[in-house]
Amino acid sequence: MKILFTRSIQSPLLKLIPEDYEVFMWTEENRVMPKEALLKEVADADAIFTNVTDQLDSEFFEHAKKLKIVSTMAVGFDNIDIKEATKRGIPVGHTPDVLSEAVAELALTLMLACARRVGESIQFIKDNKWESWGPFLFAGQKISGAKLGIIGMGRIGKILAKQAKALNMEVIYTNRRPNPKIEDELNVEYRNLEALLNESDYVVMLAPASAETYHMMGYGQFSQMKPTSIFVNVSRGSTVDEEGLYKILSENKIFAAGLDVFEVEPIRHNHPLLTLDNVIAVPHIGSATKETRDKMVEIGVINILKGLQGERLLHTVNE
Ligand code: DGY
Repeated sequence: MKILFTRSIQSPLLKLIPEDYEVFMWTEENRVMPKEALLKEVADADAIFTNVTDQLDSEFFEHAKKLKIVSTMAVGFDNIDIKEATKRGIPVGHTPDVLSEAVAELALTLMLACARRVGESIQFIKDNKWESWGPFLFAGQKISGAKLGIIGMGRIGKILAKQAKALNMEVIYTNRRPNPKIEDELNVEYRNLEALLNESDYVVMLAPASAETYHMMGYGQFSQMKPTSIFVNVSRGSTVDEEGLYKILSENKIFAAGLDVFEVEPIRHNHPLLTLDNVIAVPHIGSATKETRDKMVEIGVINILKGLQGERLLHTVNE
């Protein structure tokens, strides 16, 4: 058996891999495995440990003649052709739940950082521009008592709602359809997208990437938000039309945006969004706490070992 790791992964669980298995690990820390190498190495692989930066498209599956298991170190799987994997009887494992708190915490971090203009303030001091305390110097927005609108009320949304409640926020959400159970459990209310955008002080995008959610936030939708409101995306960049976001932010028609994900990653330093003072951007670090990433690796490795032994994976996308 051969297991292909497309990134350098350290985990005590690797010791559980039987000695007669072959392990190929791509060890270049900051470089995605090039497509050519990926297609070459997957040709005789039985399992792949992958992540959001690999494109597992139909061409990949055509080369993956022996592949029995795909295990991604992520909850999202929009980079994997699930239909193709399913057609070939290949289970795709992922790592939900263990990252929900970390991603919700990053959403809160971005909400707070945007609200209190933390990015601009840090830069101001570094640029040696601070001359004196000012009555309205970097005056921002309050979060306590404000209204949070969550787009996509799944595992992460529920945790964010609880965290927001602890900050005395009112929480509304939109989903494909209302979920009365969640409403009772969390004391949150359903709105359609338009009403949510009209009412919210903070809008957090948590809907997964799909054909249905592609560019679901564009200039028209951003125009429905309050001029004082803040938009945060910790889901996937494809849910947002970045041209529309740039336009609304540069016209100061919303207050700020906090972005962890982008239409094209890595975003380049000369991207128009990064020229704006009212944008805080971080490099897709939603689940990046050491503890969370260790757990994601653990589940990913267990999924492979179980799968190769013909057992059910811990979490499967296509079963
Ligand atoms: C996920 O799990 O989908 C994240 O975006 C990767 O950290």
